[in-house]
Amino acid sequence: MRIAGHTPHGGQSAVEPDRMFPRAEDPVNRVRFCPTALAATQYTALLLLAIPLVSGCTSLRRLAYEGFSRDSWQQSARVIGALGIRPGDRIADLGAGSGYFTVRLSPAVGPRGKVFAVDVDKDMNEYLRRRLAGTCVENVEIILARTDDPLLPDAGIDLVLTVNTYHHIHNRPGYFRSLRRDLAPAGRVAVIDFDGRKFMRLLGHYTPKETLLREMSEAGYEVVESYDFLDRQSFVIFRAKNR
Ligand SMILES: C[S@@+](CC[C@H](N)C(=O)[O-])C[C@H]1O[C@@H](n2cnc3c(N)ncnc32)[C@H](O)[C@@H]1O
Repeated sequence: MRIAGHTPHGGQSAVEPDRMFPRAEDPVNRVRFCPTALAATQYTALLLLAIPLVSGCTSLRRLAYEGFSRDSWQQSARVIGALGIRPGDRIADLGAGSGYFTVRLSPAVGPRGKVFAVDVDKDMNEYLRRRLAGTCVENVEIILARTDDPLLPDAGIDLVLTVNTYHHIHNRPGYFRSLRRDLAPAGRVAVIDFDGRKFMRLLGHYTPKETLLREMSEAGYEVVESYDFLDRQSFVIFRAKNR
């Protein structure tokens, strides 16, 4: 058995990872709006997004994390390529949610590697466990974290990827300073977060890029790479200073 987008021997996958959800350029989504209609549509989309985000319902939250044509703007294949992942790497998907990136990281690290799907939300972890059950994915370990500690193995992580989660974390300089002990000697932390462009600013779910850079510097990190190909998220890779 295999999950969508994963082929054990590198063959053609049943469904490419980026095709798990509709894209903007798909014919069914190709609709032209006049400016007034567009504003109304954005307002409606905002409302539709806000309801699942504040909802206690796991399936609605999953919709908020993965729906709304995410593949058209998330560019997950390009993101995964930019992360420089090697087979055998141990990666933590910090704030994994429904596993949008976990299921894409799993084939990238291969059978010798491991993905730690870390979240504080028991229900989302359960959802991800069900999503992976019965697939060939054997390299994902799901961790129920504490809000102040991801509970990762000490010095055991080559890459922490945290997507749309940074703004949820409290006392971020302290949190990421402690996280340094979980990193392998050449370990890196990649942060992708809404940065205030597009409508996420209205919901308050974002971190200005200058705040991200300042806080990570306070936490003891320096920038390795900064990418600007995402249209609503910062994407910066850090490593610990003085190691
Ligand atoms: C907006 S979702 C993003 C999910 C996923 N990374 C994605 O891109 O679809 C944010 C997730 O971060 C989790 N979260 C919030 N604070 C956290 C913390 N301190 N440690 C780990 N996960 C956290 C939430 O439970 C939620 O599942």
